[in-house]
Amino acid sequence: MTRVIGIVSGKGGIGKTTFAVNLGIALSRFRKKVLIIDCNITTPHVAYYLGVDNYSINLSNVFRDEVDIKFAPTSHDGVLFIPASEELKDMNIEFERLNSYIKKLSKKGNFDFIILDSAPGLGNEAVSVLRTAEEILLVTTPAIPNLTDMIRCAEYLSGMKDKKIKIVFNMIRKSKSEVKMKDLESFFDVPILGSVPFTKDVMDSTALGIPIFDYKPKSKVCHDFMEVAANLIGVEYKKPSKIKRFVGKLIKR
Ligand SMILES: Nc1ncnc2c1ncn2[C@@H]1O[C@H](COP(=O)(O)OP(=O)(O)OP(=O)(O)O)[C@@H](O)[C@H]1O
Ligand SMILES: [Mg+2]
Repeated sequence: MTRVIGIVSGKGGIGKTTFAVNLGIALSRFRKKVLIIDCNITTPHVAYYLGVDNYSINLSNVFRDEVDIKFAPTSHDGVLFIPASEELKDMNIEFERLNSYIKKLSKKGNFDFIILDSAPGLGNEAVSVLRTAEEILLVTTPAIPNLTDMIRCAEYLSGMKDKKIKIVFNMIRKSKSEVKMKDLESFFDVPILGSVPFTKDVMDSTALGIPIFDYKPKSKVCHDFMEVAANLIGVEYKKPSKIKRFVGKLIKR
């Protein structure tokens, strides 16, 4: 059975695409068949974050019935993805049709996971993702304004039937201005899937268009992404200790 996962947020720039791409890579390392679809047609970044610039088919080709969705995925390092077009003229597509395309694709059963990377907020693109995905991962940081936006999103979702919602905390800095993890856990009714810290390496990796799994494969944050993926699949993932990671880095030198 294909699990369709929507990666959404109340606020923009919170790390949805970074998370969608690295979750996809992490799931593929668990030998899951993954397809990432860039559903943010206003500011698409999936292809860039994956480090790909030579694709020939994008989501707009599918929506214009130029290509059947089953032939649209581009393959990169064991992950399949469908990029969104970067051209302004291609923004003019009927995004509400997303649901029917994804239904058609998931019926074929070729994928374990279809990850839909959404635009922020509750506009057309985001609402189509919310309607299409059975499972929703709400990405936020532990800062109060971002939490407020996330709660609005969760409220919107409460009006939709049969959605499995989970929260992912990203860019955790452990600074004084943040709400503490233990307080967050007791505050929300919605389960927390996992968390990823703020790291300069992740920021640099997206700016360079090299996934963190290739840019700094031994870094702790890769294990954090693996752990979130394991939680999603429902398996245990043992992160290596600090010493093991240190020795691993020495051996690589
Ligand atoms: N864990 C992290 N540590 C450090 N920087 C991060 C982390 N996650 C994301 N970022 C940075 O935050 C910025 C925004 O990330 P990203 O593009 O993934 O956000 P987004 O929510 O998809 O944005 P949009 O709403 O525009 O689609 C990028 O510069 C990225 O490098
Ligand atoms: Mg994005």
